[in-house]
Amino acid sequence: MITLHVNGADHQLEVDPETPLLWVLREQLGLTGTKYCCGIGECGACTVLVNGRTALSCSLPVREAVGRDIVTIEGFQGPLAEALRRAWLEQDVVQCGYCQPAQILTAAVLLRKNPQPDDSLIDAGMAGVLCRCGTYQAVRQAIYQAAREYVLMV
Ligand code: FES
Ligand code: FES
Repeated sequence: MITLHVNGADHQLEVDPETPLLWVLREQLGLTGTKYCCGIGECGACTVLVNGRTALSCSLPVREAVGRDIVTIEGFQGPLAEALRRAWLEQDVVQCGYCQPAQILTAAVLLRKNPQPDDSLIDAGMAGVLCRCGTYQAVRQAIYQAAREYVLMV
């Protein structure tokens, strides 16, 4: 039995400690906003926040997530989350949507570190999440919009 702290709540779970965090989130906690794609740490679709940093949940044994603060797209809240969600909608970013939870969580980490990023910081910060629909330009515009709003909020 392990205890995971996810989206602000503790969850007691019977699980093999070597199980990737991704499968615990999706199958035991029903948090299907975290996506499975490559499964080998290459595409970023499974990104979640662990202690405020991005982590690839397909490659993180759940034992390593014990005692940490895990946030998935379902539990991502606050002024920055609101700014990002609004920007994503207004810039019409989403195509198939599969990579977008990871894009938004990754953008949040980027903006916390660099509240006024330029193109190169955005490219570097977002490089870990691939989008097969090619939404990169729209993601960039949404990050600029969210950055403008977020600066006014804080
Ligand atoms: S599914 Fe985890 S990096 Fe691709
Ligand atoms: S929106 Fe389809 S993979 Fe990114």
